[in-house]
Amino acid sequence: MTRSSAPGKVYLFGEHAVVYGEPAVPCAIERRAWVDVERREDDHVRVQATDLSLDGFTVEYTGSTDDRPDVDVPRPLVEAAMGYIDAAVEQARDAADAPDAGFDIVVDSDIPLGAGLGSSAAVVVAGIDAATRELGRPLDPAEIADRAFRAEYEVQEGQASRADTFCSAMGGAVRVEGDDCRTIDTPSLPFVVGFDGGAGDTGELVAGVRRLREQYGFAADTVESIGDIVRRGEALLRDADPDAPPADSLLAELGRLMDFDHGLLEALGVSSRSLDAMVWAARDAGAHGAKLTGAGGGGCIVALDPSPETRTALRFTPGCEDAFRAELATEGVRVEDGTRGETTDADHVDPEADR
Ligand code: PMV
Repeated sequence: MTRSSAPGKVYLFGEHAVVYGEPAVPCAIERRAWVDVERREDDHVRVQATDLSLDGFTVEYTGSTDDRPDVDVPRPLVEAAMGYIDAAVEQARDAADAPDAGFDIVVDSDIPLGAGLGSSAAVVVAGIDAATRELGRPLDPAEIADRAFRAEYEVQEGQASRADTFCSAMGGAVRVEGDDCRTIDTPSLPFVVGFDGGAGDTGELVAGVRRLREQYGFAADTVESIGDIVRRGEALLRDADPDAPPADSLLAELGRLMDFDHGLLEALGVSSRSLDAMVWAARDAGAHGAKLTGAGGGGCIVALDPSPETRTALRFTPGCEDAFRAELATEGVRVEDGTRGETTDADHVDPEADR
């Protein structure tokens, strides 16, 4: 059995605009997905997902994966989760030249599903890593990122950038512009995440922005303006000392840019009442800045605040279901202790811990 994990992420800047070739800066956070993979004798794939913010489900299907499970959870969510796991299995089979390989797979995650924290990317990245190791063909993180992108691209019918998958595979802060993906050294930023308990439909939200952009010049300009904000933000990060705590002046300017970015995303129609309420609660509590993260429509916001104030304020905000501090995850995909390959420690984070 091989167990791998990969982190979720927040977007410091640039979601949606990245789909049109503008740069984006996502940052990996210490919320992870764990995927256990065990090779089977036959070509079946059995998937058990114990905690995907769904009621747990277990399904078994054959290599063709055309059969869909008969389980009592919302069908779109199951299909989404199954689709990503299917696609990861296909990538691993292809990479290891083992088209008929069967697996028992267990997925466990503390990243809310579809909430803008990169849950699907983390599952795909960890799944490809564990399955290729199980087949005796480990891949390096850059290749896992590339294969995970192809898997997401397929499931999301072409509406995916490389941002989530590259960030999850590499860890830390990254910069993605089209096919150009790089890691960037950055000080550890004091992220606070607020979660409204909901999820947005990434495909629909991306399609909505696409339509708006085709119909209105302002929307095309807005996408370009987000790109300008990202370039300013990444210049600030480049100039900062990655080994020192971030200076207040850096946090203030990054926060300002996050506020601008949120305003532009709102203009593109991808925010929501609960996301706006959390963003304003964070700002009122003294956060340096706050914005939605990911596709929007519902899910999570990210704020910058080294003090406990924002988290406390979010917890008292109607519509906010959970608020937590999210440390930058410097490690991307990794194989876990006691399984094949190198060993590392890997304990679940305590979601309640506020360091
Ligand atoms: O909500 P998430 O974590 O799936 O992020 C979507 C980010 C988008 O820029 C809207 C789409 C993409 O693939 O980059």
